[in-house]
Amino acid sequence: MADDKTIMTVAVLGGTGKEGSGLAVRWAASGYNVVIGSRSAERAEQKADELNAVVGAAVISGAHNTDAAARADLVVLSVPYAAHSATLEAIGEQVQGKILVDVTVPLQPPQVSVVSLPQGQSAAMEAQTYLGDDVRVVAAFQNVSAEHLKDPDHIVECDVLVCGDDKAAKAEAIRLVEAAGMRGFDAGALRNAIAVESLTPVLIGLNLRYKGSGAGIRITGITP
Ligand SMILES: NC(=O)c1ccc[n+]([C@@H]2O[C@H](COP(=O)([O-])OP(=O)(O)OC[C@H]3O[C@@H](n4cnc5c(N)ncnc54)[C@H](OP(=O)(O)O)[C@@H]3O)[C@@H](O)[C@H]2O)c1
Repeated sequence: MADDKTIMTVAVLGGTGKEGSGLAVRWAASGYNVVIGSRSAERAEQKADELNAVVGAAVISGAHNTDAAARADLVVLSVPYAAHSATLEAIGEQVQGKILVDVTVPLQPPQVSVVSLPQGQSAAMEAQTYLGDDVRVVAAFQNVSAEHLKDPDHIVECDVLVCGDDKAAKAEAIRLVEAAGMRGFDAGALRNAIAVESLTPVLIGLNLRYKGSGAGIRITGITP
């Protein structure tokens, strides 16, 4: 259980991809042990080597998604929605008793700039339903473009809304947001992930219409 201790090892499933690798490199640079997860252990090890070169230390390892989830105190899920349920099936046992931070956005390609609610209303709620009550699911990072994350020295001028039904789990996730160089806000219940996940296609549409790649959100009027 990760209840009362500081999270030390974070697995990033889908960490070979754009969003997950950017988060992984930032967490490794800030002192977390990071395990990149992939459907292929070899691909994960290659990505880990690449990211270790960016960090300048051997603090990232690579493993199959299932092994990565087993090794971690906290598991981050960052895969395309089409791969969401298959990845949950692969790690269902290994994630029991842990926190799962879901970054997945339920986009429906090719209409990626139109809101689309999945059957379970949000990807994070589907994860919670599938994994059961012993896993504390938190939704976060859906509104931060990978463009901002890949260079750990780049200052990210975006905030992160963190949703979940367990306060301590949200606090751990907010620590991860801060470790990645952003401000994290407790955005309420896991059900609010419906709104947060739905903002991403809106941001993708803004990028398309205004010819950018880094549209994000900023909370004004309060400080975290
Ligand atoms: N990119 C962004 O700017 C951004 C921003 C906010 C949120 N998100 C969300 O974060 C999640 C990850 O986004 P991403 O851009 O990092 O995705 P991505 O690069 O396309 O894929 C991430 C990883 O998912 C794994 N994967 C597993 N099953 C797959 C399948 N059936 N098809 C393709 N890849 C599969 C792949 O790893 P292996 O092949 O190594 O298993 C891949 O490297 C998505 O839900 C996305 O909507 C992305």
